[in-house]
Amino acid sequence: MKVLIAEDDKNARILLECMLADWGYDVVVACDGNEAWELITTPDSPSLLIIDWMMPGIDGVELCRRICQVDDNVPRFIILLTAIGNKKATAWGLEAGADDYITKPFDHNELRARVGVGKRVIKLQSALANNVKRLELEITNRKRAEEERLKLEAQIQQAQKFESLNVMAGSIAHNFNNLLTGVLGNLDLALSRLPTGSPVSKSIRAADKVAKRAAELSTLMLTYVGQRKVNMQTINMVEMAEEMTAMLEMAVSKNVVLKFNLSPEPVFFKGDPVQIRQVIMNLVTNAAEAIGDADGTITLTTDTIFCDHACFQQLFPDDDLPDGKYVCFEVSDTGCGMDEETLAKVFDPFFTTKFTGRGLGMAAVLGIQRAHRGAVSLNSQPGKGTTVRVLFPALDAP
Ligand SMILES: Nc1ncnc2c1ncn2[C@@H]1O[C@H](COP(=O)(O)OP(=O)(O)OP(=O)(O)O)[C@@H](O)[C@H]1O
Ligand SMILES: [Mg+2]
Repeated sequence: MKVLIAEDDKNARILLECMLADWGYDVVVACDGNEAWELITTPDSPSLLIIDWMMPGIDGVELCRRICQVDDNVPRFIILLTAIGNKKATAWGLEAGADDYITKPFDHNELRARVGVGKRVIKLQSALANNVKRLELEITNRKRAEEERLKLEAQIQQAQKFESLNVMAGSIAHNFNNLLTGVLGNLDLALSRLPTGSPVSKSIRAADKVAKRAAELSTLMLTYVGQRKVNMQTINMVEMAEEMTAMLEMAVSKNVVLKFNLSPEPVFFKGDPVQIRQVIMNLVTNAAEAIGDADGTITLTTDTIFCDHACFQQLFPDDDLPDGKYVCFEVSDTGCGMDEETLAKVFDPFFTTKFTGRGLGMAAVLGIQRAHRGAVSLNSQPGKGTTVRVLFPALDAP
């Protein structure tokens, strides 16, 4: 243990230094109050301080006062050296922060015993401080664990809610489709049996149109919950984008430039070609509609990227997807972009900001991604355009 001896009297100082060194202490000495203060305020300062009451510069009592104001969490024990019979000095010293005192000329055994008491007190203080630190850490860890648990619980509840909604929406859509097959079939039959020119045929055709729209909606509902029947095939995203060029160019108006930034190597994944074409079409249509009548560019990019847990947390849906290589198809436009409010609702079925929109394009994209164990990322700012990326688990070879 490190001990400081602050004593201006050379003989007393040397005597104290020799005795304490003999008793196994690591001793540092100061010839006056200023020197002592410097040693106390340096890092790795001594814990046990033996301080003379009368010293040039800062005196012993003032030193005690200052030490008590130091907020460095170092356990300290101060023994004040006072002259015999000076009770006032002793009282001041103890009030100023000294823990003990010894009168000069001191008794060798008494000094050893008092220093021993100081050592024990410092040890206890250190143990107490360590325990407090340990308890604080434990409390922090417990709080953190509790927060984690609550977060996980909320996630599980959310997942269960989504799961049961999925089951319900899926079975309603299936039943609806079956019922509509009957409705559409009978309307068809009725139409074929009507004499040509019958005034009823107009109404039957209108009913047929509405029933077909309803069938479209229930198919979309199945797509959204990822339950639409999929016809999985190996797809090369580069090839598919190339094949769709003419169709996409027709879908965008003349003021829009369609740029292709396709990877030189094929990028393979397993998917339903009909649904993947629908994703591409929905994204390009949205991009073109966001550009509107102004001049603008839509860039289509294909790539393969590595995605891990941290990456998926930024994506939709927040399903637990495995780390790995993903084929990425990106549609980037220079259109109007989206504000926070639109971004938060973009995947909601029937959410639209367009006069002619139905609000089903992005809901279908999300459903298709879900069915393909893929994900979607959105990046958009009002006036700065939008980038949508869809990811599919990559195949190394076809
Ligand atoms: N690239 C984009 N730039 C700006 N806004 C977009 C973009 N893509 C989607 N949005 C916003 O998200 C909304 C929902 O898009 P979504 O494709 O689901 O429906 P929609 O385009 O309105 O209708 P539709 O069913 O005909 O596609 C849009 O109305 C639009 O506000
Ligand atoms: Mg759309």
